[in-house]
Amino acid sequence: MNAVIENILTRRSVRSYLDKQVEKESVELIVKAGRYAPSAMNGQTFQITVVRNPEILKDMYTAIPKYMGTSGEYNFYGAKTLILVSDKKDKEIGQMDCACVAENMFLAAHSLGIGSVWINQFRETSDCEDVRAALNKAGVPAEHKVWVAVALGYPVSKPEDKEKTAAVHWCE
Ligand SMILES: Cc1cc2nc3c(=O)[nH]c(=O)nc-3n(C[C@H](O)[C@H](O)[C@H](O)COP(=O)(O)O)c2cc1C
Repeated sequence: MNAVIENILTRRSVRSYLDKQVEKESVELIVKAGRYAPSAMNGQTFQITVVRNPEILKDMYTAIPKYMGTSGEYNFYGAKTLILVSDKKDKEIGQMDCACVAENMFLAAHSLGIGSVWINQFRETSDCEDVRAALNKAGVPAEHKVWVAVALGYPVSKPEDKEKTAAVHWCE
C-alpha cells in the first residue's frame, strides 16, 4: 500500500496528550498542509490561527464549558497546541473549506507521528462573550466563526482503532 493511503487508513482521533509541546517546525508543516486544502472557487478566505499561548488556552478552557452547560474546565484533552480554522460567520460554504483544511492537518499531523482531534465546541460558542474575548486575544477576526479547531499533541497511548462502517454503494 502506498504511504499516503496507509496514512489515511491509520489516522485516528487522539483524546489524551502527553505534557509535551509539539515542535514549532512540525506545526508549521501541518499548517502548510492546511493552507494547501481545496476551497470553493479557490476562495481561500479562511484563517488558520495557531494558539500555543498558555494564558489564552486557559481562557478557552474556562470559557467554553460556561456556554456548553458543563462544569469545570475543558482542556482539549491536554493538547498544548490548538489550531483554530475560521471563516465568515454567514459564509455557509466556509465551513466546508474549513473542514478540508482540518482534514489536511489531521493527516499531516499523523504522518509526523503527532496526534490530533476535531474540537467542535467553538462553532456554537464563537460569539459568546468570554469565548469571543479569548478569540480576540488569539487574533481571530471579529466577523469569523471558528468552524473547526484542531487539537495537536503527542498521544499518551495508541488511540482506539474504530471500525469504519459507512455505506458504500456502487452502481456500474
Ligand atoms: C464534524 C465533527 C465534529 C467532531 N467533534 C468532536 C469533538 O468535539 N470532540 C471530539 O473528541 N471528537 C470530535 N470529532 C471526532 C469524531 O468523534 C471522530 O472522528 C469519530 O469518532 C471517528 O473516530 P476517528 O477520528 O478515530 O476515526 C468530530 C468529528 C467531526 C467530523
